[in-house]
Amino acid sequence: MAASLVSCGLHMRRSGRLVKLFQNLDSHVSRRLGTTTSAEKVDVDKTHQAVCVVISDVRNIRKSYFAIQEEGQEQAERSVLISCPPKFSEERFLKHLSKHGDISNYFFYYSYGIYAVVEFSNRDSIASMKESSRIPIVQHEAAVPFKSRLFSLKSTGALNQSDSPNTVKCQQHAPLPINQLTQRLSKEESMDRQLQSLMEAYQLTEDNVRLRFLVCSLLRDIAAAYFPECTIRPFGSSVNGFGKLGCDLDMFLDLDAISGGKPKKSDSGLSLEYQVKRGASERSVTQSILSVIGECVDQFGPGCVGVQKILNARCPLVRFSHQPSGFQCDLTANNRVAMKSSELLYLYGQLDERVRCLVFTVRCWARVHGITSSIPGAWISNFSLTVMVLFFLQRRSPAILPTLDQLKDLAAASDKCVIEGNDCTIVSDLSKIKLQNNTESLEKLLQEFFEFYGTFAFNKMSLNIRKGKEQNKPESAALYIQNPFETSLNVSKNVNATQLERFVALCRESAWMLQQGEVLKRGSAQSSGSVPPWGLAALLLPSVAEGAGVKGRRKRKREPASERIKSLLDSLKSNGGGKKNQRS
Ligand code: GTP
Ligand code: MG
Repeated sequence: MAASLVSCGLHMRRSGRLVKLFQNLDSHVSRRLGTTTSAEKVDVDKTHQAVCVVISDVRNIRKSYFAIQEEGQEQAERSVLISCPPKFSEERFLKHLSKHGDISNYFFYYSYGIYAVVEFSNRDSIASMKESSRIPIVQHEAAVPFKSRLFSLKSTGALNQSDSPNTVKCQQHAPLPINQLTQRLSKEESMDRQLQSLMEAYQLTEDNVRLRFLVCSLLRDIAAAYFPECTIRPFGSSVNGFGKLGCDLDMFLDLDAISGGKPKKSDSGLSLEYQVKRGASERSVTQSILSVIGECVDQFGPGCVGVQKILNARCPLVRFSHQPSGFQCDLTANNRVAMKSSELLYLYGQLDERVRCLVFTVRCWARVHGITSSIPGAWISNFSLTVMVLFFLQRRSPAILPTLDQLKDLAAASDKCVIEGNDCTIVSDLSKIKLQNNTESLEKLLQEFFEFYGTFAFNKMSLNIRKGKEQNKPESAALYIQNPFETSLNVSKNVNATQLERFVALCRESAWMLQQGEVLKRGSAQSSGSVPPWGLAALLLPSVAEGAGVKGRRKRKREPASERIKSLLDSLKSNGGGKKNQRS
């Protein structure tokens, strides 16, 4: 195995921009993969080898998770959010704001109205802007005089003829509707390119990530009334590289800079410490802090609506909608393991470009077929699905991803990280990670993913990305995925047998369709310009999830499927797990 190791050293510099790099890389990879067709499978592998070289070069300038957090937060602190009227002059707007200082970046987006995110070069500009803004006088109501960094742009007089209002160019931060996505995918030339294209269409844009950091920073201004040194950090899919436009904003109230610390030595031999209230446990302190902050968000937070305090959950949280950004927000505290999980996922996503493509594809496929849902329930979560993809990639031969234990073994002493007794150490110097030379195409990997989980012994075995191996299930949950850091926990404990069966059935069906090959044939464009759904687009069609879809395809094509896939489908029928039953 050692002989097959290829040195794909990953060096990091603290420069450049994460999402821009993703996008540059994506378009570079797209250009290369876009030249291949499904008939040129051998060449796809060769192309992937070429892409691997490109990727390893680009990785050299990708940033660490820590650097992204620091930079995003620092930019957000220099930024403001402004609600704008439907029509106004961009030129006058910028001129007006420039009175407060240099603007280093700005963009407009639409979310039930036009909003502008404006980033100044210097934080002093914000103080100047606040100084010159006023609390509005509202009729028949009273205003909470809280001076936040969310403003409204008002016109104070008639405009000159020369600068009559124009309409600004607004970004849309919503994901592409599924029918438009399938049309887009159908126009691609190869299935590899389709997976790339799906990720390009769905991934968070650089500006959307900026907005997420800004919302955290606005929230921090509220929490800072009690805890001036606190930080509110985004985690989860907003920053782990797997976020889809429109995904929720998971936030973590970080009070670590305030708490703890050893007494400082002094010449006098004396020291002072704060008198504090004590709670019964860490959990109860977290609950009371979140309760108070939640109340402030509810009562004083401009644009924050529908605040719910969900304090008795395993991980207490405050949930609300932030109307100006359109984000559904979850604010947690004392949730350091989840931050570390986000870092781990980010790291895995950085190691090989195929990881993110496959995760985006599997998440989208699962969503359109109702395997996942935005409502909590007995279904598989996006987080669990992501871990399933990582596990599958660890099980390839040669492995595409290292195990978590390997990442831990490569860690330096300074990487040591223990959270609540759990060893969460992972290497931070990515140049130490040596990847094996696996050049499988995305098409092949997707097909193998469906076969892998269509035949996985879920009844007996659990998934363990720490070891990169399946293991006997320690308890009788339908789906057991070991929590990467809190190893005695199952991240998919909520999943029931019916939901797992639906997932397995869909994997088998999708594997069968790809095995048949018919869906891999790209038709030619119709007079309307659209191309009939094929490849990944065909796998995303709602009819695919229904029994009728499979029957229809069987009638059309009677070529023998491989014995393996046929037996999979037979076993599916005989154990009563037909799709119609599962859907009901
Ligand atoms: P989407 O919000 O669905 O796009 O994905 P997400 O990854 O953000 O998932 P979610 O909002 O449900 O959770 C946010 C983060 O919390 C995840 O990325 C994980 O880091 C962590 N997390 C979620 N569920 C679990 C779990 O069951 N166990 C552990 N350890 N962490 C979890
Ligand atoms: Mg999330």
